[in-house]
Amino acid sequence: MAEQKATNVHWHDHSVTKDERCQLNGHSGAVLWFTGLSGSGKSTIANTVDHKLHATGKRTFVLDGDNIRMGLNKNLGFSADDRAENIRRIGEVAKLFCSAGIITTTAFISPYRADRDAVRALLEDGEFVEILVDAPLEVCESRDPKGLYKKARAGEIKGFTGIDDPYEAPEKPELVLDSGNKGIDDLADEVIAYLETHGILNL
Ligand code: ADX
Repeated sequence: MAEQKATNVHWHDHSVTKDERCQLNGHSGAVLWFTGLSGSGKSTIANTVDHKLHATGKRTFVLDGDNIRMGLNKNLGFSADDRAENIRRIGEVAKLFCSAGIITTTAFISPYRADRDAVRALLEDGEFVEILVDAPLEVCESRDPKGLYKKARAGEIKGFTGIDDPYEAPEKPELVLDSGNKGIDDLADEVIAYLETHGILNL
C-alpha cells in the first residue's frame, strides 16, 4: 500500500457524476483486467475487444503494459516492488477512466494476486472484470513474439515472469480465456458475451 505523503489535501466531488457520464455514453464504465504471461495474447485480445466495442459505438480505451512503461511508468523496473507500483498506478488510472464511463481494457502481466486484488478493491462491485489469458508457458515461449524468453533462458534477462519470476494465477477470475487453443476473434467474442450478460453494455 502506497504511503499518503501529501498533507492538507481535500477531496472535491465532481459536479458531473459518474452516473450522468454513463447515461451520456449509454453504457456502464468497467475495467476489463487481462492478466497472464508475456506472449499469452493479452494485448492482442484487449485490442480486439476494444476495436469491436468501438465499432458498435461504445466509449473505450486500452492501457497496455509495454506502452505505459514507456511513459507514465518509465521509472519502474520488474522487481516485485516496482511491479506492485506499476499495477497500483494503472489501477488508479483505470479507475479514473471507469469513472468517466469508459470501458477500459488493461493488458499487464500483473503477476501478483495481492496487487490485482488491491485494484479490485478500488472499484465498485461488478466494475472489475478479471480475465485470465490462459496459455501454457510452453506455448508462450514457443511464440516468443519479442524474443524475450530466449534472452531469459540465456540469462540475459533476470527475473522474467514464468522463467525465474513467479506468476500467481487468479483463484476466481470472472473469465478464463483458453488462448493456448482458441483464436483471438472467438476469445474477444467471449469477453463481449460476458459484458452483455452482465449488463455492462447497456444501462
Ligand atoms: S508487470 O509484471 O508489471 O505487470 P508489464 O505487463 O507492465 O509487467 O510489462 C511486461 C512486459 O515487459 C512484457 O510483455 C515484456 O515485453 C517486458 N519485460 C521486460 N522485462 C521483463 C521481465 N523481467 N518480466 C516480464 N516482462 C518483462
